Amino acid sequence: MGRVIAVANQKGGVGKTTTSINLAACLAEKGQKVLAVDMDPQGNMTSGLGVDKNSLQYTIYHAMCEECNIGECMIVHPLESKKLNLSLLPASRELAGAEVEFIESEKPQYILKNLLAKIRDRFDYIIIDCPPALGILTVNSMTAADTVLVPIQCEFFALDGLTQLMYTINLIRKKLNRSLEIEGVVFTMFDSRTNLSLEVVENVKNNLDQFIYKTIIPRNVRLAEAPSFGLPINLYDSRSAGAQGYRDLAEEVINNKLFAGL
Ligand SMILES: Nc1ncnc2c1ncn2[C@@H]1O[C@H](COP(=O)(O)OP(=O)(O)OP(=O)(O)O)[C@@H](O)[C@H]1O
Ligand SMILES: [Mg+2]
Repeated sequence: MGRVIAVANQKGGVGKTTTSINLAACLAEKGQKVLAVDMDPQGNMTSGLGVDKNSLQYTIYHAMCEECNIGECMIVHPLESKKLNLSLLPASRELAGAEVEFIESEKPQYILKNLLAKIRDRFDYIIIDCPPALGILTVNSMTAADTVLVPIQCEFFALDGLTQLMYTINLIRKKLNRSLEIEGVVFTMFDSRTNLSLEVVENVKNNLDQFIYKTIIPRNVRLAEAPSFGLPINLYDSRSAGAQGYRDLAEEVINNKLFAGL
């Protein structure tokens, strides 16, 4: 049964989508069967994997509203390169209505979990890209997940908001998903030319009692360019420092002994 990883941090622009896309693609490159799930109405993961989010008849939103079944909105091999065993549950702007619309459901927090239950045994990894908020979409993602992976941007306010995030994760563990664990923290956009990046890493390590991945994702312009070509980094520029970073992270995720059995 696949390990479901929610990539979450309510802070905007910390590298959630970049991490979700490239971790998913690098896991697939290593021979894992991967499903990428876009739970952000911005649809950045969808377009970053080369899919025109405005042209879709069905998205994860429609599956969550029971307007289609999960197979109808799943895009098998969104990338032209069929080399990667990667599928996508895409998102578009309509998902922004979730906050209001799903509240009428009997158990609005469990909608995604129930959908994924039907298909999770087909995959080794399911990577969920969460929006920058702790609302119903992130709650659905964490309720469906085995673990939460938290990207932290190497900048001055890195620790801000982490208390709130940990509080939410604990609350979900208590009320909705007893087996939810914190997969770990990954530093993103590390700039080796500045002392600030180093200080942030040290500061977070000293203040956060969580597993921290050894891999630190560098600030790398190729990572910022890749989504505009609709490609993950390993297909856009396989030899870039960004590709190496996400390959190393994928390797560590596979070998993370805490969850190897999931
Ligand atoms: N390691 C990196 N090197 C260079 N640019 C990066 C890196 N990681 C992310 N970026 C860029 O930083 C911006 C924010 O990244 P991203 O979209 O992944 O963050 P996010 O947390 O998903 O944002 P949001 O909260 O809006 O969903 C993007 O323009 C992205 O291309
Ligand atoms: Mg994002």
